[in-house]
This record gives sequence, structure tokens and C-alpha cells, in this order.
Amino acid sequence: MKNSFSSKIGLLLAAAGSAIGLGSIWKFPYIVGEDGGGAFIIIYIICSFIFGLPLVMNEFLIGKLSCKSAYGAFRTLSGTGHWQWLSWLTLSTVMILQSFYFVVTGWCFYYMVEAASNTFAGMDANALTAYFDTFSGNISAMTVYAVIAIALTGAVLWFDVNKGIERLSKILMPLLFIMLIVMAIHMVMLDGGGTGLRFLFEPNFSKITPKIILEAMGLSFFTLSIGVGALITYGGYMPKDQNVTTASLQMIVLVILVSLLAGTIVFPAVFAYGFSPTQGPELTFITLPEVFQHMFSPTLTSVSFFALMCVAALTSTISMMEVPVAFICEATAETRYPLSRHQSVIVVGVLHVLTNLLCILSMTGHAPYLTINGHNIFDNANIVSTDFLIPFGAFSTAIFTGWFVPKALYKSSRLASIVYLILLRWIIPVAIFIVFLDSLNVL
Ligand code: PFF
Repeated sequence: MKNSFSSKIGLLLAAAGSAIGLGSIWKFPYIVGEDGGGAFIIIYIICSFIFGLPLVMNEFLIGKLSCKSAYGAFRTLSGTGHWQWLSWLTLSTVMILQSFYFVVTGWCFYYMVEAASNTFAGMDANALTAYFDTFSGNISAMTVYAVIAIALTGAVLWFDVNKGIERLSKILMPLLFIMLIVMAIHMVMLDGGGTGLRFLFEPNFSKITPKIILEAMGLSFFTLSIGVGALITYGGYMPKDQNVTTASLQMIVLVILVSLLAGTIVFPAVFAYGFSPTQGPELTFITLPEVFQHMFSPTLTSVSFFALMCVAALTSTISMMEVPVAFICEATAETRYPLSRHQSVIVVGVLHVLTNLLCILSMTGHAPYLTINGHNIFDNANIVSTDFLIPFGAFSTAIFTGWFVPKALYKSSRLASIVYLILLRWIIPVAIFIVFLDSLNVL
């Protein structure tokens, strides 16, 4: 039987799992707080529906109609090999993206283990900063945990989609929702938590500039896993009777809700104890562990938070790694040396270990020649994939469907109306082009 999801809810939870990751938990809340609170949230939601929805539907449709992975989908739908470069683009993007994403997922696992051993007890910001600096300079510890993250992801992909990804998503995603809700309630009830909620939600329209709108659009692409072939690959596994529009809408609503819940966890806690909000690694690995020390049950809170990060990150890495795994199976099936799913998982796993090692060597300063443009490989992988390759992938897939295979849209979805085509043909490409000019500081 063809590899596919056995139920609609399976696809939905797996797609939501892909989307809900480090982006929703460590990027979204801070950007919202800094960039206008409720006003930014409104713009983010509008961007998610105007740009995100057609692009998510588009990727699901490309997979569903072609019944192929990112390797064969563009060729099958267009009927020519001219679009094969787009397959290679999505593959390159996801390989670069995962090279830093697995490293950070490894950090989450490490911190969860350390939190369980009560390592952070009594540490203040200075001690936690020193602790993080020591850890992020330690090649062997980082490599071991990145390899654990890769191995766990590979173990899930070892099975067919319905037995691995689907089964695990059905367990982990409800668990993630429950953990998020319980933690959010806990944080909101803290004395002084209201200041954090105000930081997050109070709309400040004076902060909204064209640059912030572009930032909201970029964030919505990243959090919705657009532009890397993951949704195309999952679309290829979508049950035939599943409606693409409904699945896309449900997925986007879940992502928005979870991002808001993540903010509701982070900021009440940060403000309740008089800390100032930070972002990225500093927020997750320094500020929050310190905040948790002041709470009623520091060990339980820290372990729960890092477990939540691990679950969110793992369901994202699973969707990322499925792209090259499916790609290699399909590509090699056309050669004299077809690789099975198991062999493909091993090949991709080894490649991931190597690219992660490059990132780790570069960020620990052990390979200065790997510094490009003043940034180590870890930073470059982040910048190149999120600022350039993901928007470019989204732009190209919009052009592909909007201009070259529009009939496929008309046939398959009621929403594939003139409005949808106008979005894919004109509005989305033009908007992404403006984002590019902005990233290049041309504007
Ligand atoms: N959406 C994920 C996040 O917000 O962390 C990132 C991501 C996962 C992007 C999977 C792309 C992907 F295929």
C-alpha cells in the first residue's frame, strides 16, 4: 500500500506538529511583545490568512494532486522537467534549515535532562549565562544531544507514515496542547502576570511600520512551515477524501492559538518576577530557567517547559527530515540503485549529523574558516534559510501554481477561485519580492 496517513486527524496533527515548533515558542512571543503587541498579532493573523493560507493550500495541493514527494511533484504536475530545480531548491532549504534546528532541539533535550537533575537550582542570571556559554562551547555535549535528536527523529521515520509520524503525532500533539494549557493557566495566575499579558497583547499601533508588516509575513511563513517542501510531502500522504481548504484552515488556526498560548506562558512569568523580556536562546536557556527558580516548584516547572519545547521541536524535525527521506526514496527509485525507506533514513541521518557537526564546530569557534560574512555557519544557516530560501521557495511555488498549473487548482478546490489565483499570481509574489528587497536593505 502507498505510504499515507490513515485518517484526516492524523494529517492535521502531523501538519500542526510541523508548524508548531521553536518558531511559535521562542520567536513569536518576543517579536509580538517588541513590535506592537496586539497590533502585531492582528497583522500576523491577517498575514497568516492572506499569504499563509493560499500558500499552505498550494503546497498541500501540489503534493495531493501529484501523489509525489517534493522530488517528483513539480515535474508530475507541470508535465515537464523545467521545474525540477524547484525540487532541489526545497531540498537544499530544508537541509540548511535542519542543520541549525537539530542543534537547538538538542539543547532543549540537554536542558530538560539538566532541569530534571536539578542543576539550575539556585543559579542566577550570571551563573546561567556562564552555564549556557560553557555548554554552547562544548562540542561533545552539543554533538551528543544533536545526534540524540536526529536519532529520535530517524526512529519515527523508520516506520511507514501511518505507523510512525501519524501515530506519534496523535500522542504528542494532544500532550503538547494539554501541557501548554496547564502551564498557561499556571503562569497567568501568578501575581504580577498581568503586566506580561499587557506587554504581549496591548495593541500599540504606533509601532506598526512597513518593516514590521514584512516581519509578520516572514514569521508567518516560518511558523507555518511554508517553502521547504514539508507540506508538499505531507500533502502527498493526505487521505483522498480530505479537503485541502479545511485542513489548511484548521492547521493555521491551531498554530495561531498555540503561538498565543506560548506568549501567555512566557511573559506573565518573566514580568511577574521583574525580569526583562529577551528572545531566542537567551530567553529560553537563561531568562526562563532563572524565572522558574522563583516559582512554586522550580524543578517541575523547568522540566515541564523543556519537555514542551522538546515535543514541539521534535514534531517539526520529523516533518523536516521526512522531506529528504521521501525525496531520496523517490529519486533513487528511478535509478538502478533504489533505496528503501530504511536506507534513506540512514543516509539522511548521517548527512544531518555531518551538517550539524559543521554548525557546532563553527559556532564553538573551532573552525574559524567556516565563518562567512562575519557569521558562523549556525547563524548563516538560520539567516540564509529563514530570510532568503524560505521566502524564495514560497515565491516560486506560488508562481508555479498560479501561472503554470492553475487548472489543477480549479479542479481540486472550491476556494480555487479567481481570488485565490490573483493571490498566487500577483499579490503573494509581489509581497515576497518586497520582503526580499527589504532583507537586502534595498528599501
Ligand atoms: N514551523 C517550525 C517552527 O515554527 O519552529 C519551523 C519549520 C518546521 C519550518 C518544519 C519548516 C519545516 F518544514
